[in-house]
Amino acid sequence: MAKKNKILIIDCGSQYTQLIARRVRELGVYSEILFWDTPMEKLIAAEPAGIILSGGPRSVLDKDAPTLPTEILRSDMPILGICYGMQLIAHSFGGKVKRGEYAEYGHAKVNVSGGRLFAHCDEKKLDVWMSHWDEVKELPVGFKETARSESGALAGIESSDGRVTALQFHPEVAHTPKGQEILSAFIFDICGCKADWQLGSEWIDREIQAIREKVKGGRVICGLSGGVDSTVSAVITQRAIGDDLHCIFVDHGMLRKNEAKEVMETYKSLNLNVHHVDASDRFLKALAGVTEPERKRKIIGELFIRVFEEEARKLGGADLLLQGTIYPDVVESGHGGGGVIKSHHNVGGLPEDMKMGLLEPLRDLFKDEVRKIGHALGIASHFIGRHPFPGPGLAVRCLGELTKERLDILREADAIFIEEIRKAGLYDDIWQAFCALLPVRSVGVVGDVRTYGETVALRAISSLDAMTAEWFRLPYDLLDTVARRICNEVPQINRVVLDVTSKPPATIEWE
Ligand code: XMP
Repeated sequence: MAKKNKILIIDCGSQYTQLIARRVRELGVYSEILFWDTPMEKLIAAEPAGIILSGGPRSVLDKDAPTLPTEILRSDMPILGICYGMQLIAHSFGGKVKRGEYAEYGHAKVNVSGGRLFAHCDEKKLDVWMSHWDEVKELPVGFKETARSESGALAGIESSDGRVTALQFHPEVAHTPKGQEILSAFIFDICGCKADWQLGSEWIDREIQAIREKVKGGRVICGLSGGVDSTVSAVITQRAIGDDLHCIFVDHGMLRKNEAKEVMETYKSLNLNVHHVDASDRFLKALAGVTEPERKRKIIGELFIRVFEEEARKLGGADLLLQGTIYPDVVESGHGGGGVIKSHHNVGGLPEDMKMGLLEPLRDLFKDEVRKIGHALGIASHFIGRHPFPGPGLAVRCLGELTKERLDILREADAIFIEEIRKAGLYDDIWQAFCALLPVRSVGVVGDVRTYGETVALRAISSLDAMTAEWFRLPYDLLDTVARRICNEVPQINRVVLDVTSKPPATIEWE
């Protein structure tokens, strides 16, 4: 097979597939994800220097479990199997896989007995992360053992020519401290890759050229949300085509305190040609009396489309719609096979009759890579590092009826919480922090007078990808300051509570 300087990750359904791809890129080699049932011709056409088979929730003993074509397994392509990937390799080459007596989950220790993957690990006993039930019980002919866990399970195997290697544990997760050394042995020693994936001026120049070629003097329109992805997409496109890019920023009235003003100032400083539409009254009117969360989302999504379309028409339409699609969106919407268009973050799916082509300059990049490009384009760090904010905005954080008064109360409390987190130097350690205004009133007392006020909940979480999240342990003193300030400075609030649920079972947002 021909070879490009990239690694192909075959997704067998693991929650860590994207993490494997990111780890490979962190080592300086471009990686792509394709789903295991992608037609063989497409796998071959990708021309990777090596393939990594991900883990997955299935058993190779199941009838319709993920497989890989024999032509690929038996080609000259270097292959690394991880977890399910190791069981698939063992099974496909004639070894025996069986359900273990018990699952091995979490931290484990393995003893290394050799193998190319461990060439850069000094120690013979490694801390690793396991998550499996099935085990390889018998090696396939022509394979040797390279590692075994302390509980006795096979943890690493390698073919006699060293081309096919596999691990029962997960080198991609942070809980396997030597994981990057192991992946780097595969990528550089076994696949012969070069570290040439760099996100800087070269990538930007190439992309600017590609945008010019695609736009060919036409007009491009884009919806800006104040988020990182849409901003970085717009700035790079502006560099390519200047004022032929028309941006629309719809203020739906559900933004945080001073957000519309600050975001517009940032856009101005970046020379973006932005049409600011204050549609907050329209949104509030449409949402009057609505308390059901899904109804709120639907109303906001539909009205957003209408406002965006009206503005686009006023601007005289465009040939292309610029979207801030990033690689996880591509993978999640179509297994990396391409072709499926992500619904717009804020408008929840633009109508087909807009008849515009799509421009998606960031569709190959992960979020941290988008941030890198943002830095290289000169976008201020505090803007790039902002916490994610949902399209429907404060509407999903203001439980119960949405009124301007209640939204203002929430905005004030939220601003205090974030200000104190920034003051404590914790903002960048937290994935997302915000206040939610609850549909509950409670009794309080201020200066001997009974109050019956609003309740606000503080939510701060750590996460890697928002799929799962852990509540963030904020210092008690910080919580105390925040609670006191909110009750003193926002007189309508007389109670502050802390949300200590992780995701699952809760979601990050309250609605
Ligand atoms: P949940 O609440 O589902 O949120 O745990 C996961 C992440 O997604 C964000 N979120 C949204 N982002 N449009 C968006 O662009 C939305 O409708 C939306 N709903 C939730 C949320 O803030 C968190 O980061």
